This record gives sequence, structure tokens and C-alpha cells, in this order.
Amino acid sequence: MVKFSTAFFYSIFLLFAHQGCLTSEAHCPSCSTDSLSFRQAFFFPPIHFPEDNYPTECRLELGKKLFHDPQLSADGQTSCASCHALTGAFTDGQSVAVGHDQHQGMRNTPTLFNVGWQPYLMAEGGVKSLEQQALAPLLSTHEMFNSSQGLPTAILKNECYQTLSQKAYNRDLDFYTVVRALACYERSLISYDTPFDQAYYFKKRRMSPEAERGWQLFQSDKLACIQCHALPFFTDYQFYSIGVADSTDLGKERESYHIENRYQFKTPTLRNIELTGPYMHNGSLRTLEDVVEFYNRGGDWHPKQQDHRIRPLGLTPQEKLDLVSFLESLTDWNAVQNHSFLPLNQ
Ligand code: HEC
Ligand code: HEC
Repeated sequence: MVKFSTAFFYSIFLLFAHQGCLTSEAHCPSCSTDSLSFRQAFFFPPIHFPEDNYPTECRLELGKKLFHDPQLSADGQTSCASCHALTGAFTDGQSVAVGHDQHQGMRNTPTLFNVGWQPYLMAEGGVKSLEQQALAPLLSTHEMFNSSQGLPTAILKNECYQTLSQKAYNRDLDFYTVVRALACYERSLISYDTPFDQAYYFKKRRMSPEAERGWQLFQSDKLACIQCHALPFFTDYQFYSIGVADSTDLGKERESYHIENRYQFKTPTLRNIELTGPYMHNGSLRTLEDVVEFYNRGGDWHPKQQDHRIRPLGLTPQEKLDLVSFLESLTDWNAVQNHSFLPLNQ
């Protein structure tokens, strides 16, 4: 074991020492312009790609580098990955996101794993594609704050980006290529290899007895978790008010202008949920135990839009533990440690 870890650290050292000798231009990955298919689970539906943005290696590499580059923001300090960090399953551990110049946002950062399957984005579902979504943080004062005049000079002058942009989209780097490359990278963020999947889909290994009991509760008519957090992504992509106390965020009404949508939010995926706390659109619940307590008491406030399934559940202490164990069986440790999601020089 000791020998193994010494060798491991030595190889990491060599890797960095080697990279240290390279110029920034040499960091530029070589890439193929052939179309690429992402490895994904047999139990996920086919992923939909827009006609002008089928994945290729060059598009993916460009998106991966841009996603992790703070120079994409006006102050040179905030990248997409500042909030969507791999180690947190592409979240930041904050209640609500903090962006450019320490501006406080109003929402909790969601995971980006399996985001390619989302039919619409954001908690009110107002954004239709990842290409369209990527523009929002680039222009938002709370996040990265570039003026719509153009991209930062440091990005435009980067020869590697220009080369990749030409190879990927046959044109110079601009907002058109940046948002498409970011979206291409985001569609590659696929995660499915969890203890739950091993047991339920691959039928290779059992879950722990606690997690198995939690899974039974999760599917039960009484708890009805699975009715909204549906397989295989643990979301039905619909909108509900579940009684998270917050009178400032109108939720889906912001997008639909219908009062019946007030305080309704998109059902979030529960894959990798153990790593994506704090929870709920405003990050008001700190731990999974807090979330289970929240459902057990039937939510915290009761606007008339609240879904009828959210009501006191009367769970025993053991049932609460079982439910948390089940939620923890949805963590894909291989994915969050998979460095191929990061650019080479990270
Ligand atoms: C300051 C933190 C921050 C930065 C920087 C940031 N995001 Fe986000 N991101 C968020 C928050 C918070 C939300 C949730 C917004 C909402 O629901 O209203 C979000 C939502 C998203 C979503 C929608 C996910 C869903 O489930 O609907 C995508 C996609 C996304 N971000 C991609 C990006 C990309 C690409 C970048 C870089 C160009 C980026 N983000 C930069 C905080 C951030
Ligand atoms: C009526 C649909 C519905 C039911 C039933 C339901 N949920 Fe949810 N769940 C949601 C919605 C919508 C949210 C997001 C609410 C928000 O952000 O304000 C959510 C949020 C969560 C979160 C936090 C996710 C995150 O990323 O912040 C967890 C964990 C969770 N639910 C687990 C459960 C469990 C366990 C049950 C069963 C006891 C359950 N849910 C029942 C719709 C539902």
C-alpha cells in the first residue's frame, strides 16, 4: 500500500514536472474533427444533439478548457467551474452561488451531471437549450459579467482557443463557438455508475440492507418520492411547490406569469445528491437528514399551490436513516474522480 502510494505520487510529480516544461501553446490538445459518441448507460434514453452541435473531440476539448478558464469572466476570477466544480458533482457547496465581485445570487447551484437530458433548464425551466443557457452566466452580473460587446481580450488572443475554434466550428472564436463548445462539454458530463445502478440495473451487487429498505420506502405509495423523482434520472422534470419556505422566489410563475405556478420549482435529479448540498432552490436545507426531516413534517409552509403528496409522514428514526442511506447509494464516485472531465493542465 505504502509502495503503491509513493509510486502514485511520484507519477503525479512527473506529470506536473513534465507539464511545467511545456509552453502554454503546447498545452493545446490535439483533437479529431470526427463525430464522437459519449459512453452512457443502457438504461438512459438516447441523448438529443442539436443539428449544428453534434459532438466532436475538438468541440469537447474547446468546451472543457473554456468551462475551467476564469479568464472567461470580466474580473478574470470566475470560471463556470468556480460554481460547478467536479468534486461537488459540479456544484459549489454554497447555499446560494457567489459570483463576480462577490455578488450574491439567489439560487443554489445545481449539478450538471446528466444535464444533457434536461428538456429545459433552470429551476423555472425557462431556458430551452444548453447553448442558450451558456450565454446567461457569461452575461449575468451575479455570475461572470461580460458585456454583450464581446469576449474578454485574453480569451480572444489565446491562440489555442482560436485554433480549436477553427477546427471545431470552422470559424474564429466568438460567442457562437463559445456557447456551443460549452454545451458540447456539458452533454459529456454523464454519470450512472452508482451502488443503486449496480443493484437495480446491472444486477451485479446488492445495496446495503439500510439502503434497500430506504429504496422500498422511496417507492412506497405513502412517501411517493418516486412519483416526482422518477427513474432513471430521479426527476420527472415537472414543477411542484413542496413547501420550501421562501416568499421571495416566485419559481415557475417568473417564466409562465400564471399564478398557479407560484412557488413551483423543477424537480431536481437525485443522482449524486450526497455531494450537492446544501439543498433546495435556495439552499436552505443543509444536510440530507434535514431534507428527510423536512418531508417528514410535510414541508415548512403551505401555499395553496403545495402538492398534495407533501404531508406529514410519521417516519420512525430507523426509516429516516434508511432513506438517507438510499439517497447516499446514488453517488457515482468514479465520475467525480474522473479527471478526463478536466482539462489536461488542471
Ligand atoms: C456564480 C456561480 C455560477 C457560475 C459562475 C456559473 N453558474 Fe451555472 N448555475 C448557477 C446557479 C445558481 C444555477 C441555478 C440557476 C437557476 O435555477 O435559476 C445555475 C444553473 C446552470 C445550468 C442549468 C442547470 C439546470 O439543472 O437547470 C447550467 C446548464 C449551467 N448553470 C451552466 C453553466 C455554465 C456553462 C457556466 C459558465 C459559462 C456557468 N453555469 C457558470 C451558478 C453558476
Ligand atoms: C410532488 C413532487 C415531489 C415529491 C413527492 C417528492 N419530491 Fe423531492 N423535490 C421535489 C421538488 C420540486 C424539489 C425542489 C424544491 C425546491 O428547490 O424548492 C425537491 C427536492 C428534493 C431534494 C433536494 C434536491 C436538491 O438538489 O436540492 C431531495 C433530496 C428530495 N427532494 C428527496 C425527496 C424524497 C426523499 C422524497 C420522498 C419522501 C421526495 N423528495 C418527494 C419534488 C418532489
